[in-house]
Amino acid sequence: MKQERSAQDNRELERVRQLILEAKENAYRETDMEPEPELTHSVDWPVTCTVGPGLEGAIAAETKIGYVNGTKGSLIYRGYDIFDLCAQSSFEETSYLLLHGYLPNESELEKFTNVLRRKMFIPRTQRLLLSFPIEEMVPMSALRLGTNLMRQKQTFRDKDTLLEETKDSIASDEDSIAMETRPTGEKASVYEFIKHIYDRPETASPDLISSEEIESCYNLLGGVTSVAASIGRIRDGHLPLEPLPDLSLAGNYLYMLTGRRPTPLEERIMDISLILHADHGMNASTFAAMVVASTLSDIYFAVGSGIAALSGPLHGGANVQVVQMLEEIGDASSVSQWYSKATEEKRKVPGFGHRVYKAYDPRARILGPLAGMLAESNSSIQPMYETAKKLESEVVASLGASKKIFPNVDYYSGIVYKSMGIAEHLYTTIFAVSRVSGWCARVIEYLEHNRIFRPRAIYTGTLKEEYVPVDQRDTNG
Ligand code: ACO
Repeated sequence: MKQERSAQDNRELERVRQLILEAKENAYRETDMEPEPELTHSVDWPVTCTVGPGLEGAIAAETKIGYVNGTKGSLIYRGYDIFDLCAQSSFEETSYLLLHGYLPNESELEKFTNVLRRKMFIPRTQRLLLSFPIEEMVPMSALRLGTNLMRQKQTFRDKDTLLEETKDSIASDEDSIAMETRPTGEKASVYEFIKHIYDRPETASPDLISSEEIESCYNLLGGVTSVAASIGRIRDGHLPLEPLPDLSLAGNYLYMLTGRRPTPLEERIMDISLILHADHGMNASTFAAMVVASTLSDIYFAVGSGIAALSGPLHGGANVQVVQMLEEIGDASSVSQWYSKATEEKRKVPGFGHRVYKAYDPRARILGPLAGMLAESNSSIQPMYETAKKLESEVVASLGASKKIFPNVDYYSGIVYKSMGIAEHLYTTIFAVSRVSGWCARVIEYLEHNRIFRPRAIYTGTLKEEYVPVDQRDTNG
């Protein structure tokens, strides 16, 4: 049942909007936000560019999905400024924008939101997850497993290669879950979904889907949310929950993770965090997803490889280090001493600097004040937030002008998640829940003019070695 918002809730939501608009004003006061001409025009292939190791500087595709202006510190999705989307849009609407290329009208948005809610209902995948040692797996590995289970359920692509007996054992899966005997004598599943809310959520409304791929994107967007939340539940020894019909995707993530209805403020701030992480140029995980899709593999595998790429410490995960660093510092009065020592030891401060942004990351501009707002009503987070603000002023004062080092998106996101009671090991899975929309949009766009990715490496090894049989090789190494 839809919960009424109190006047206090409405005041808090309005304040969130105002804080984002103020952040926008500050950003626009500091720079003109003019786009870089060399990165915002169509390309005449083949293109000439200066390429560094790891393809740095390489132009690999054209896109209409998103643009990161690292010099000015701006982020655009499909022409819309991230500040405006965060102030006014929802994650559902932003995902529609990324996938379909335009802001939906009221009826399209309502249909899309309903479809995603139904796609979050994945009882069979959640039940299968319970049969794996989720508590022994890194959450990102479990998330990747979850997308593979969804693929199995939703694509049936592997059916041609199934052996007869495997078919039978898969069919018997429904009966293989643990049963208990009720006091009345009948057997009942220990683990069951009430299933009072939805019918089988097999397909999206036909007028929303233009292709099988888009349908799979919807499956993934909704399903990954439930998988990510289930991973947290299972790791804590709880059973997964089904989504509630009146909560947004962000609200349902929080509900399915914690078992508690989030406050409207928590739901909205999580919603904004998902908007902020939805797309960010051709970063490593987006590129990984595109490379896999370019072989005409399928979108579940593509998203699975995005998750794998995001799991590395150089990509997702700096927010965990930020929280640990702030805990190590202790309180705002210890910042100067801690930072002098870190500088002496030439340590990189987690949550600062970015490969593309050489200005204040707009995502940090938004999350900073929101973390502050959450901290106001959470006395256990308040000292951490104050420590973060003090450290920010010291790092920016010493490295801002000289080395263009400013807070990045990870600096405040950990504080936001911590204040919502989310365990640190789950932070990167939240990033993935959001980024599924960007991965899907970029993959679908690329497939329209697909060309398999195939860069080359310069060979620097020897060329004319003579093969020596193993028994004649030098035994001294
Ligand atoms: N703290 C202190 N100094 C820094 C920091 C930092 N966080 N980041 C860069 N610098 C300094 C470097 O020491 C270097 O100084 P030098 O010129 O005297 O050698 C200079 O700034 C340039 O640094 P690079 O490492 O070359 O910058 P690059 O653009 O390659 O690296 C990176 C970006 C990897 C993000 C780096 O800033 C970093 O390690 N930051 C901390 C980790 C972090 O927050 N990662 C999350 C990034 S956001 C994301 O992935 C979603």
